[in-house]
Amino acid sequence: MYFAYQHILMYHLECVNCGATYPADEILYNCTKCGHLLAVRYPTDEITISRGVWNSRPLSVWRYRELLPVRISPVTLQEGGTPLYHLKRLGEEMGLPYLYAKHEGMNPSGSFKDRGMTVGVSMALQLGKKSVACASTGNTSASLAVYAAKAGIPAVVLLPAGKVAVGKVAQALMHGAKVISVRGNFDRALEMVHDLCLTHGLYLLNSINPFRLEGQKTIGFEALDQLGEIPDRFVLPVGNAGNISAVYKGFLELNEMGFIDRLPMMTGIQAAGSSPIVRAIRENLPEVVPETNPETIATAIRIGAPVNAEKALTAIRKTGGLAESVTDDEILKMQRDLARKEGIGVEPASAASVAGIRKLVEMGMIDRNERIVCVVTGHLLKDPETVIKQCEPPIEINADLPSLLSALHL
Ligand SMILES: Cc1ncc(COP(=O)(O)O)c(C=O)c1O
Ligand SMILES: [Zn+2]
Repeated sequence: MYFAYQHILMYHLECVNCGATYPADEILYNCTKCGHLLAVRYPTDEITISRGVWNSRPLSVWRYRELLPVRISPVTLQEGGTPLYHLKRLGEEMGLPYLYAKHEGMNPSGSFKDRGMTVGVSMALQLGKKSVACASTGNTSASLAVYAAKAGIPAVVLLPAGKVAVGKVAQALMHGAKVISVRGNFDRALEMVHDLCLTHGLYLLNSINPFRLEGQKTIGFEALDQLGEIPDRFVLPVGNAGNISAVYKGFLELNEMGFIDRLPMMTGIQAAGSSPIVRAIRENLPEVVPETNPETIATAIRIGAPVNAEKALTAIRKTGGLAESVTDDEILKMQRDLARKEGIGVEPASAASVAGIRKLVEMGMIDRNERIVCVVTGHLLKDPETVIKQCEPPIEINADLPSLLSALHL
């Protein structure tokens, strides 16, 4: 893919806390003045793109390239362009006529992380880096392995030992990443890989990387284009809180460019055993109190110290959104309901967004006429073990018709 830019717009990095600015080609993950995270800032008032031009391009991450930092031919596997489904049956059950799910499991590696990695790995090349790394609860490692393979560069991934769904490990291994299993949780693995990258020059592609999140904001752009109107509420499962922060940032940019005149209420759902952001919102804390032993069946969001928490709290608070937690049973029930009533196969963490909406509507916290987009983040096949445990095993029979009829009670 080659992009001819009519205007090569410059952008820079800005600290989300103190506002210090840095050149775009500086390889930095934190502000050198105060240590907080950095975000990419574009001169949105100078961008001349129209909605019409965007709409004339295929629905994909790269439809929105004027609001992305990549200035080379990107490393792409045609990510994005995922379906937005109307949840007719589940919506009727919940009394929500305008309930939708954006199925991010339909991306090349089966999760939304591909949106971030097409941009992140392209930026690695643009910045002249020769190798990439991440810590991961699974999906980030699978996606990084895929995009590093496409780029032809080595990848190192750190996983919390014994806590990653088998499909994700299989992907990271098969696509050729160096897979390291750390005896510790995700939060510790992230500290380690951060140190490794700072000392040995690998390019870090966790969600503290400001460029990776640029790709992820396109989930919101696509949903808006598919719905044809601004959703009232945008609901995401929250782990490290990169995705909810990214989508909010994207909506803010569209607002600055005059494409939308209000922002959806950003709503974050966490697993009950791993919910520091929900607690911070509920107790109106200025910042999250990390949880040292997060636990949930939804291993993708088993994160006690979300690195993007500061941005996520702003997203939720500034848009009048909500944060709620759901139990593992509620998550699994919704995973089955999505599969059996809507034909949508997702992994447990992904079902959390819709499970959260079921809970919030039962609590009377949301208006039934809202247009609600739930992001379902990863595919069912990512975690086949959790699926099999919930289902009756296949009925094994002798290879004759009477046995078949008997098995079917006919
Ligand atoms: C399937 C799935 N859902 C949700 C999340 C949470 O995203 P974030 O860490 O950006 O909050 C992840 C992160 O790994 C994930 O893999
Ligand atoms: Zn700063």
